[in-house]
Amino acid sequence: MTYFSKNSPIGVIGAGNVGTALAVALDKSGYDVVSVASRTFASAVKLSDRVSNSKPELDTQKTVDASKVVFVTTPDDSILPVLNALKFRQGQLIIHCSGVSSLRLFEDANLPNGVFRACFHPIQSFASINYDDDCFEHITIGIEGTSYIKEFLQKICADFGANFVELRPEDKSIYHLSGVLMGGLLSEYVAMCAELWVSFGLSREQGVKALLPMMKQVSNNIEKYGIPNAVAGPFARGDVGTISKHIEAISKYKPDLLPFYCHLSMQGLQFVEEKNQLDSDVIHQMRNMLEEKLEDRQII
Ligand SMILES: NC(=O)c1ccc[n+]([C@@H]2O[C@H](COP(=O)([O-])OP(=O)(O)OC[C@H]3O[C@@H](n4cnc5c(N)ncnc54)[C@H](OP(=O)(O)O)[C@@H]3O)[C@@H](O)[C@H]2O)c1
Repeated sequence: MTYFSKNSPIGVIGAGNVGTALAVALDKSGYDVVSVASRTFASAVKLSDRVSNSKPELDTQKTVDASKVVFVTTPDDSILPVLNALKFRQGQLIIHCSGVSSLRLFEDANLPNGVFRACFHPIQSFASINYDDDCFEHITIGIEGTSYIKEFLQKICADFGANFVELRPEDKSIYHLSGVLMGGLLSEYVAMCAELWVSFGLSREQGVKALLPMMKQVSNNIEKYGIPNAVAGPFARGDVGTISKHIEAISKYKPDLLPFYCHLSMQGLQFVEEKNQLDSDVIHQMRNMLEEKLEDRQII
């Protein structure tokens, strides 16, 4: 049975990074985005201007009333208060885009019977409202919903050229953590690496310029050779002397990074082992060096 289709009027509440990308991509894929509401009218207008047939609203209820499918793309903590401030009607589909909250979030909302619920989480980093309409292509979207609702979500994924995975509510936190360690904290990780350039008299910007091609190459290597074959560097080579110099440098210039470096390197050693190119005693030696350093500082 098809309850929802490309002809179902869609409303988007929350004209931020994800709401904008989603509305623009839905419109480009032939879906009927009819209404956009946001906390500030200017955001709703800005998004509506990029969608063929949509009306901006400040009154969120008007967006709900005009739509059969409602995407709630406010920050995670606002989803429930937003839902509870609105009146939905039987036969509507509400979709939130949180990666960490699941379908269970709807259990705490005062929704009437017969309102369908779903989750649609693009596992990607959206840091701006200015992406092109193909920004969902090749990415993966975590979905939850009852079977016929999932069919509709899968159709959207196919129209976006995106992959999808079906998620269980109990797995959402760990699933989302993988995305945050990758997409969210990766930018902070890059910032941290680039900041090291300041300690030898160059700028963070010079660091970013020099290190970014490396990040792109790492991404290409992983795509091309997979894990563990893409693992490279002193740990993969078993270059104990180099690692020792790094520990010395980090202790001198950036001692607060030492525990992070040691813990991250120890986590990485399992993939070096899996690559199976080093004698086990070399791996043992590297692990001991890291553990000893942590013990010295009593930071295990
Ligand atoms: N960013 C990512 O990388 C990413 C990736 C996947 C999923 N998500 C999920 O997508 C959702 C939105 O995240 P985001 O990064 O797009 O957030 P965002 O850029 O901060 O956008 C949220 C928007 O919601 C609007 N808003 C806030 N409170 C509201 C309210 N009470 N009523 C109506 N609109 C309200 C804000 O509107 P104004 O502009 O009008 O103030 C803002 O534009 C979250 O559930 C998040 O977990 C995010």
